[in-house]
Amino acid sequence: MTVKRRLVILISGGGSNLQAFINACNNRMLNAEIALVISNKANAYGLERAAQANVPTLIIDHHAFTSREAFDAELLQQIDARQPDLVILAGFMRILTEGFVNHFKGRLINIHPSLLPKYPGLNTHRRALEAGDTEAGVTVHFVTEELDGGPAVIQAKVPIEKGDNEDSLAKRVLTQEHIIYPLAVQWYCEGRLVLENDQSILDGKHLPATGFAYNEINNC
Ligand code: GAR
Repeated sequence: MTVKRRLVILISGGGSNLQAFINACNNRMLNAEIALVISNKANAYGLERAAQANVPTLIIDHHAFTSREAFDAELLQQIDARQPDLVILAGFMRILTEGFVNHFKGRLINIHPSLLPKYPGLNTHRRALEAGDTEAGVTVHFVTEELDGGPAVIQAKVPIEKGDNEDSLAKRVLTQEHIIYPLAVQWYCEGRLVLENDQSILDGKHLPATGFAYNEINNC
């Protein structure tokens, strides 16, 4: 049995991915505990999800800081105080400074709702629909200084269906998010997933540039 890992999870909104981690810890898929949930927004519904699960929460409102650096410094200090094994960005909608990212390099992971390297940044589903894409998806990746550009860990695809709008597509993608994000974190907690020389390594092997192809083992 491996040691229980400590997770700190950063959110800004609904927290459905946070809920997936709460569930995965409760049902022992993850041998981990959520040491702290931090939100930059006081009204994030994810804070309620955490409270219901007896997970400690902290609000660090970015408006209270005069610079991105000052906000990140406070965030860094609060995270370090909990000594986490992994820092999980779960719908955390702030761009992080290079200093912050480098401090947590190899211990900082993000989920982005597109088939990276396609559509880094905002409005991913709208952009996929406007481009007439036939598929969309989601990517889990280690975080580096490049926005949504760090080494991919796992990717899941979904079809874009006739009549889809941003909401219907986001819903279909979210169901995949809730599967692949806990899976990636499980690999990390088991010591199977590491970042080495800016590359994602799973079970000692380099992962492809777009990460582990989740659909290939699941025929979705
Ligand atoms: C998720 O779709 C996540 O992939 C996305 O925000 C949503 C958060 O949902 N993240 C980003 O866009 C980061 N660039 P949740 O609060 O229900 O987990």
